[in-house]
Amino acid sequence: MFEVLDDIRREIEAAEVTSKEAAEAFRVRFLGRKSGRITELFKQMKSVSPEERPRYGQEVNALKELAEQRLREFEERAEQSVNGAARQIDLTLPGRRPVPRGSIHPITQTLEDIKSIFERFGFWVAEGPEIETDWYNFTALNFPPDHPARDMQDTFFVEVDRVVLRTHTSPVQIRVMEELGANVRVIVPGRVYRNEAISYKSFCLFHQVEGLYVDEGVTFADLKHVLHLFAQAVFGDDVRMRFRPSFFPFTEPSAEVDIWWADDSHPDGGRWLEILGCGMVDPNVFEAVGIDSERYTGYAFGMGVERIAMLRYGIDDIRLFYENDIRFLNQF
Ligand code: PHE
Repeated sequence: MFEVLDDIRREIEAAEVTSKEAAEAFRVRFLGRKSGRITELFKQMKSVSPEERPRYGQEVNALKELAEQRLREFEERAEQSVNGAARQIDLTLPGRRPVPRGSIHPITQTLEDIKSIFERFGFWVAEGPEIETDWYNFTALNFPPDHPARDMQDTFFVEVDRVVLRTHTSPVQIRVMEELGANVRVIVPGRVYRNEAISYKSFCLFHQVEGLYVDEGVTFADLKHVLHLFAQAVFGDDVRMRFRPSFFPFTEPSAEVDIWWADDSHPDGGRWLEILGCGMVDPNVFEAVGIDSERYTGYAFGMGVERIAMLRYGIDDIRLFYENDIRFLNQF
């Protein structure tokens, strides 16, 4: 009879438990109300001889206390391990998927590439505000007041007199020349806004990169050269491009540049896509910033970043860039 008590004591002392479940199993095994081993010992009290009963009772009580004390220890330990102090690692669990990584938006990527190409050509990067005054966005750029040329760019007006969301990055030309005078070679990446009907080819906001080079003796040939090098860097050495005469109030002469988009489904095997406007800085613009147009000349260009990204990645709808559909963005 007393050997059984010794066995149970040894078992209780040897028990090692770290989880809540195991602590509960321990409780049921020894203290469970129906058939816990110690509970059973109490039930057997009746069959112990009256002489032995007091000692038996004492020892069973001591066992019960021991079991209860160990159970408290186990429960405490299990609690701690849940809190991370001694968490058990189950090496049989399947691995976790890595946290999904984002990718760089194709517009950001294209902007970065355009910037680094022009930095190689010796251009600095400048920036300007997206909310502009009429002066910088139009007047200083030789758009006369009420001149129809202002209609070329459907404008979002801010509810403050003569303040607009810039319709192009060209106002930064003015800001840069005001600051640095006649020795500038900068590009200006940025967001611009136009109040246009939204379609596959136009959106109410998009990105441009402006370029401006002013010095003595800058010519249209310099402009053609730098844009040709640029197109080759973006689209490859065998890129087909053309300069088409155009009009902008702030350049004279002006041109637009098209890139050939090969497309077998097209009857002509492809088509020309306009990517930028450019020209020689108009003397009236120099006058607005106090630069001597007899001494200095300069070229300027402004390219559409979305257009370039569309050509580069074969995307046929500008709206895709702004929907933030993860299935689209994941491809870059
Ligand atoms: N700002 C013009 C546009 O948005 C582009 C341009 C920039 C043209 C510089 C000539 C020189 O259409």
